[in-house]
Amino acid sequence: MTSDNPVITIDGPAASGKGTLAKSLSLELSFHLLDSGLLYRIVGLAATWADIDVADKAALTSFVNERLVFRINEEPATELDPDRYEVYLFKAVGIEDIVRINDRNVNLELRHGNAGVTASVVAAESVVRRALIPIQRAMAQSPGLIADGRDMGTVVFPDAPMKFYLDGSDKERAQRRFAEQLVSNPSASFNQTHDELVLRDQRDRERGIAPLVIADDAFVIDTTDLSIDGVFGCARDEIRRRLGI
Ligand code: DC
Repeated sequence: MTSDNPVITIDGPAASGKGTLAKSLSLELSFHLLDSGLLYRIVGLAATWADIDVADKAALTSFVNERLVFRINEEPATELDPDRYEVYLFKAVGIEDIVRINDRNVNLELRHGNAGVTASVVAAESVVRRALIPIQRAMAQSPGLIADGRDMGTVVFPDAPMKFYLDGSDKERAQRRFAEQLVSNPSASFNQTHDELVLRDQRDRERGIAPLVIADDAFVIDTTDLSIDGVFGCARDEIRRRLGI
């Protein structure tokens, strides 16, 4: 990473508005976009398909080290090894990532609530975090990167010149997640959504490795009472002020 190739990190708990802000900044600045949560969701989904008990450290370790391969913007292999899980991640500025595991498009499955919970469980394992670090760092390419996650500014890109931490009340964040869920599941329950979100944040904050914390040099935005445009405006002004872009 150089100053010509800046990384802007956005960390924070679930449904704090990171993804929305990251996408608009990526379009505004024509920067690459890293949705790091998606990588943890992929590991969780692939492990589930392989019948790995994600709470079993040894099984998860050999799965990640021996059977899971990530390929970025590469054409899928014509012959697939049945024992391996090949992840094809297609990335382009302004376009949602397209993810295939082996020959299956998993974009919808990855966004499902259960995938988020499993992701949070596998994300607490050091073997998973170690395996994903080089993939994430490799995305810091010209003209720059917007990196969305939980440990972007603290662990993956500690030297990033601009770090944001987005927050919001539990109630407001659960309300946002609930509104999303209602679209595909009219019988979703607000209380269940709220409790799952609080539990997931707690796991992300309390894990021993790369927990969700505010980087010392992060600019904090409380999004509870802000509109999407309000959050964007606030972040955009700060980027102009700090980076002059
Ligand atoms: O942002 P998301 O909801 O897609 O993330 C899913 C889970 O992945 C989240 O609960 C914790 C984990 N995660 C992480 O540990 N570190 C990141 N940088 C991003 C996500």
